[in-house]
Amino acid sequence: MKITFYGHACLGIQIKDIHIIVDPFITGNDKASAIDINDIKADYILVTHAHQDHTLDVEAIAKRTKTVIVSNYEIVMHYQNLGFEGHPMNHGGSWDFEFGKVKYVNAIHTSAFEDGKYGGQPGGFIIESEHKNIYIAGDTALTMDMKLIPMQTKLDLAILPIGDNFTMGIDDAIIASDFIECDKILGYHYDTFGYIEIDHEDAKRRFFDKNKDLMLLEIGESVEL
Ligand code: NI
Ligand code: MN
Repeated sequence: MKITFYGHACLGIQIKDIHIIVDPFITGNDKASAIDINDIKADYILVTHAHQDHTLDVEAIAKRTKTVIVSNYEIVMHYQNLGFEGHPMNHGGSWDFEFGKVKYVNAIHTSAFEDGKYGGQPGGFIIESEHKNIYIAGDTALTMDMKLIPMQTKLDLAILPIGDNFTMGIDDAIIASDFIECDKILGYHYDTFGYIEIDHEDAKRRFFDKNKDLMLLEIGESVEL
């Protein structure tokens, strides 16, 4: 499993020859100007919630290739009504896709499209594939529901928001890492806007002090699991 950071909360996940994009927001992110969305392949687009900083490039990417949009029921209905292919899920539900098992889990946040249209309830994803398990938290507060995750899944990596203001900040993400019983964290949802700028070295040190590893990737950089 190869995970690429495309800036903000956008990830590319490659599992064998299947390409998955999570929360595409590239053309609206000045920091990701080196990434050309025309180079991005997506057999699947996973959408955690409807906010524009997670959905801006869904249509542009889905239009170009045959893509299945996976999200909550309301978001998938929105895209199906526009002619796109989708797979609706809801909280607590899992589905075996060709690349692995996906579960849609709780997030504490809000979810509306840019025009105010209801975007269902926000979530995160657990992906189990190739004997590796990852948790993509989406935009969320620290929540006790995270304690449910390790009861069923031994995580190899968790992708947590750390930018504060709209989501968890560093201190809550450290507690989340305890709740989910995973000490290997990839941080996301930071630095894109003024509200969520962080000090990288300070953030890494605070995780390190709790015997945890916080990875912060450059935009376009990948990790292999
Ligand atoms: Ni959001
Ligand atoms: Mn967001």
